[in-house]
Amino acid sequence: MNLFEVYKLWDIEPVRGLDTTLWDKNGEVYTDLYGGHAVISVGHSHPHYVKMLQEQLGNLGFYSNAVQNSLQRELAARLGRVCGYDDYALFLCNSGAEANENALKVASFHTGKAKVLAFRKAFHGRTSGAVAATDNPKIQAPFNATENIVFVPLNDLDAVEAELSKGDFAAVIIEGIQGVAGIYEPADEFLHGLRSLCDRHGCVLILDEIQSGYGRTGKFFAHQHSGVRADIITTAKGMGNGFPIGGVLISPSIKASYGMLGTTFGGNHLACTAALAVIDIIENEHLVENAARMGEYFRSAFENDKAIKEYRGKGLMIGMELKDEYVGLRDRLLFERHFFTGAAGAQVIRLLPSLTVSQETAESFVNAWKELTI
Ligand SMILES: Cc1ncc(COP(=O)(O)O)c(C=O)c1O
Repeated sequence: MNLFEVYKLWDIEPVRGLDTTLWDKNGEVYTDLYGGHAVISVGHSHPHYVKMLQEQLGNLGFYSNAVQNSLQRELAARLGRVCGYDDYALFLCNSGAEANENALKVASFHTGKAKVLAFRKAFHGRTSGAVAATDNPKIQAPFNATENIVFVPLNDLDAVEAELSKGDFAAVIIEGIQGVAGIYEPADEFLHGLRSLCDRHGCVLILDEIQSGYGRTGKFFAHQHSGVRADIITTAKGMGNGFPIGGVLISPSIKASYGMLGTTFGGNHLACTAALAVIDIIENEHLVENAARMGEYFRSAFENDKAIKEYRGKGLMIGMELKDEYVGLRDRLLFERHFFTGAAGAQVIRLLPSLTVSQETAESFVNAWKELTI
C-alpha cells in the first residue's frame, strides 16, 4: 500500500531530538524553531517527560473511559491551577480539531441553537464543524458546507453585533492569536466587546488556544493578556509535547450530562501522563516566563530588520512578514543554515519554538538571518 499523498514534504528525516536540536537520518544537525508546528512545548525528549511516559507504559498504557482513571482528575486539577481556570471542567480528546468540534457541540447543546460566528482567515481544524468554521473553501468538501457558520472580519465589533443581534447564535469561536492566517491578534478592546456582546445575546464565547495556548505567548492562554474570560477554551498542540491530546475547558455555567460527549482514546493513561509531565516541566523550569523573555529578545532583534515588512505576535508565537525581495528566506534558513521555521504562505515566516528555547539558540538564529539578508 502507498501513502495517501496529502503532504508536500521536505526531503529531510529527523530521527532523534533533544530540546531544540534535531538529528536527521544522515547525522546532520538542525535547530528547531518550528516545534513540529507549535507542538513541542518542553523540548524534544525532555528526560522528565521520557521517564514519566516510560514508567506509565510499564504500568498501563490504556483502558477505556468506562472505569476510573485518576490521572484524568489529576490533570484537570493541575491544568486548572496553572491556567487560572480552576473552577472550569475538563473534557479530554485527542487533537485540536476534535477539541473544537466538541466545544461547538457543547455550545449548541447548551443554548439549543445551531449558528456559530467565526472570523475571516480563521483556522480551527479539519473535522466537520471545525473545518466549516475555517475560512478556507479549498479544504471544505461539499459535505462540510453549512449555513450555520457566518464569518465576519477580525476586530470588527459592528459586524459581530449585526450578526449576534439576530438572536440565533450558539457561539462565537475565535483564536487567541490567528496562527495559520499568518499571526493576527484580536485587539484587547475587541475581545472585551466580544465578551459583552456574547453576554448580551446569550452566546458562548469559545477561545481556540490550540496554537496560542500552553504558555506560548508569555501567559498561559493568549486571551489572558486582555483580561477577558472565555466560556470555553480549547487546547491541544503543546499540551502533550507531541503525544496526541486535546482538551476542552468548560465554564461551570454549562452542565454536563452522561453521554453528551464521548471518545475511545481521549484521556487515556499515556496521554494524561504526557500532559502531566508537560505541566511539571512548564512549572519547574518557568517556561511561561521564558517564552515572554525570549519573545522580547526576538522582537528587539527583528523589529527594525531590513528584510521584514511587519513583525507580529506575542512571546514565542511570531510572524515575520517579509519584504518581496526576501521571499525564499525560509528555505535558505533550512537548507543553508539548518534552522526549521514555520510559514504562512510565501511571505510570512513563523517562529513557534519550544518554550525552552535558550538565549544562545535564539542568538544563533538571529545571526544566521542577518548573515543571509546582508
Ligand atoms: C488554532 C488552531 N485550531 C485548531 C487546529 C487543529 O488542530 P489539529 O491539527 O490537532 O486537529 C490548529 C492546527 O494547526 C490550529 O492552529
